[in-house]
Amino acid sequence: MTLPKPVLYPPFNIVRLSHVELAVTDLAKSRAFYVDTLGLQVTDEDKDTIYLRALEERGHHCIVLRKSGQAEARDLGFKVYSEEDLDKAEHFFKGKGLPVEWVERPYQSRTFRTHDPHGIPLEFYSKMERLPPIHQKYALYKGVKPLRIDHFNCFSPNVDESVAFYNEIGFRVTEYTEDNETGKLWAAWTHRKGGVHDIAFTNGKGPRLHHVAFWVPTPLNIIDLLDLMATTGWVGNIERGPGRHGISNAFFLYVRDPDNHRIEIYCSDYQTVDPDLEPIRWDLKDPQRQTLWGAPAPRSWFEEGSTFANAKVREPELAAQPIIAP
Ligand SMILES: [Fe+2]
Repeated sequence: MTLPKPVLYPPFNIVRLSHVELAVTDLAKSRAFYVDTLGLQVTDEDKDTIYLRALEERGHHCIVLRKSGQAEARDLGFKVYSEEDLDKAEHFFKGKGLPVEWVERPYQSRTFRTHDPHGIPLEFYSKMERLPPIHQKYALYKGVKPLRIDHFNCFSPNVDESVAFYNEIGFRVTEYTEDNETGKLWAAWTHRKGGVHDIAFTNGKGPRLHHVAFWVPTPLNIIDLLDLMATTGWVGNIERGPGRHGISNAFFLYVRDPDNHRIEIYCSDYQTVDPDLEPIRWDLKDPQRQTLWGAPAPRSWFEEGSTFANAKVREPELAAQPIIAP
């Protein structure tokens, strides 16, 4: 597989990933997880919905928890630079034959929703209500001290197709995993904001949301979270880690929320703003790819994910197997 050439002047300009809505079955339990355990800040709530932001964030929300009869992932939100970019984005998606529906979203200005060619629901906006900074209100720092949403990772039934589509709208590949036998992509990490990724794709039954990640100040915050979860009834929700990724070089931990939505705690990847940054290639069979220290991920990590609302899930076209923990 030859990676597509980066599109440095895309048809519209995305700043970064912004937020996601997760449908949850028990709002009180979800609040105990996201607020009391992880330490996200409530910016608004009522009996059906909780809006959250992380400590560095000035926008109103990065996660919306919505009470529902069924747990699922809803729109992945992206912020564009300007209203003009939003109009250009509408034109782009319509040109691809993808639906564009303008929707009302509290705390966001004009917002449209669409989906990618595999069915991942997406929404785009340019302005969200701005809140006063709290990053130096240290009395608010609790749990894992989450600073900002960092990335989405999605299962894709065809990673080459996902990369081709997101590349066209300006996402640049920083690292990728190739299956040696077929030359096809097994996973790819793509960014807009200058880190290793805003959205990554992993080969698997999809489309499904694999995880949402939050950036934290130091690896020690991850150790503190593990101690907290292990002694407050959440030990069964610790899935993988802590460790250091080979890909991205970030320190990580994966935990599951009360509905099994997967959250990654993530720290210390690297800067990727150079337009001529060379993507790093990994072999699927390299044991240091997942974890630099060599420990493979458990089977659940490769098989379980959150379905997206109204997205038809299909088997992946590539059958290549990663290394799975015994
Ligand atoms: Fe991740």
